[in-house]
Amino acid sequence: MQNFDYMTPTRLIFGEGVISQLPKVMSAFGKKILLTYGGGSIKKIGLYDKVKELLDGFEIIELSDIQPNPKYDPSVLEGVRLCKEHNIDVILSVGGGSVLDCSKAIAAGAKYDGDVWDLITYKVKAQAALPIVDILTLAATGSEYDSGGVISRTETNDKIGYMDPHLYPAVSFLDPTYTFSVSKKQTAAGCADAMNHIIEQYFCEDATLLNDGFCEAGLKSLMINAKKCLDDPRDYTARAEMMFACTLGCNGIYSLGNSPSGWPCHGIEHALSAYYDITHGEGLAIITPRWMTHILSDKTVGRFVKYGVNVFDIDSTLPPFEIAEKAIKATYDFFESIGIPMHLKDVGIDDSRISEMAHHIAVNEGLENAYAPLTQQDIEKILIASL
Ligand code: NZQ
Ligand code: ZN
Repeated sequence: MQNFDYMTPTRLIFGEGVISQLPKVMSAFGKKILLTYGGGSIKKIGLYDKVKELLDGFEIIELSDIQPNPKYDPSVLEGVRLCKEHNIDVILSVGGGSVLDCSKAIAAGAKYDGDVWDLITYKVKAQAALPIVDILTLAATGSEYDSGGVISRTETNDKIGYMDPHLYPAVSFLDPTYTFSVSKKQTAAGCADAMNHIIEQYFCEDATLLNDGFCEAGLKSLMINAKKCLDDPRDYTARAEMMFACTLGCNGIYSLGNSPSGWPCHGIEHALSAYYDITHGEGLAIITPRWMTHILSDKTVGRFVKYGVNVFDIDSTLPPFEIAEKAIKATYDFFESIGIPMHLKDVGIDDSRISEMAHHIAVNEGLENAYAPLTQQDIEKILIASL
């Protein structure tokens, strides 16, 4: 077991109706709020009006239209500008992971005199950030309980995940009823994203029994509850369990003491989203089984056996490689069964930029240090197999 040093300072307030605590929570940070949100889903579900009603008496400046795969230009730049111009005290992010990630970048940029891209690319280390409170409306990324944000810069095809301890949300409101309206497409993509977060941590050199059990339970919970959410979008229990399982995905708790894995599928998927602006969870679902097939070897087969037997109840007496292949097929079949398009061509990606993307990933993602090291040629093969 590896050494670790762990702290997640975020306060989670979970359950139906918890938003009534919003005024008290916000007043601890000040009166001037930057309210950030996306393309309008929060207005459709009445959450925007509710927030405005609860925060009557606060000074609210708004940044709307934050897109999925949030963009440095205009959203992050505009948010930083608004914070500086209005001397904002706290950011309130209302929406999914994209709104929250954008808000994190804004929070750091608001306390920095130079170009916020310096922080995102780690050229300069953030010294401070505005506090962030979020009301999550989509179960997927885990951004509500981690210190990371992922920002895209269209002109350079960059999609960069950056982490900084200043970027943990101070408070995350998690009311599962706000996810009732999430579409089938985004529900399935959110499930695939959260499952992949666990898979990325599970496939590593050195794991504990405790973490393996935790990961296996997380994967089962996500698979069972995502199907229930798709069958009945207003199933509170299923939405609630899915929301909590997603929340735990990226803050490290699934893999404390494990050796690092390199998060290879995320490294590959971020390039797909950067070049083609696809839905993150769909890209991951497409890549994951092909990555699994590519890395299956004498060295890795033991992890696949454990995964197959404990997550998919595959007969443990079968030969190891047969279990592994069944486990990979079960992973693919599950994603397909929840309606995810399982080929890159289904999401508008052809072979024309595969080599360019493989090069971009190899140069920027450091996957030669992953659990199963990946060269540019390996990445290209995985992308071609995903077509
Ligand atoms: O823009 P609006 O109108 O709000 O619509 C959104 C958007 O179109 C919609 N939506 C959100 N809540 C809804 C809803 N529609 C109906 N009802 C609701 N209650 O869903 C669409 C997708 O939203 P988005 O925020 O993009 O989805 P998600 O939460 O999956 O976030 C994806 C982004 O997070 C990054 C991804 O790369 C991607 O950019 N990630 C962030 C991570 C982190 N910070 O830790 C880790 C992840 O691995 C991931 O990379
Ligand atoms: Zn992800």
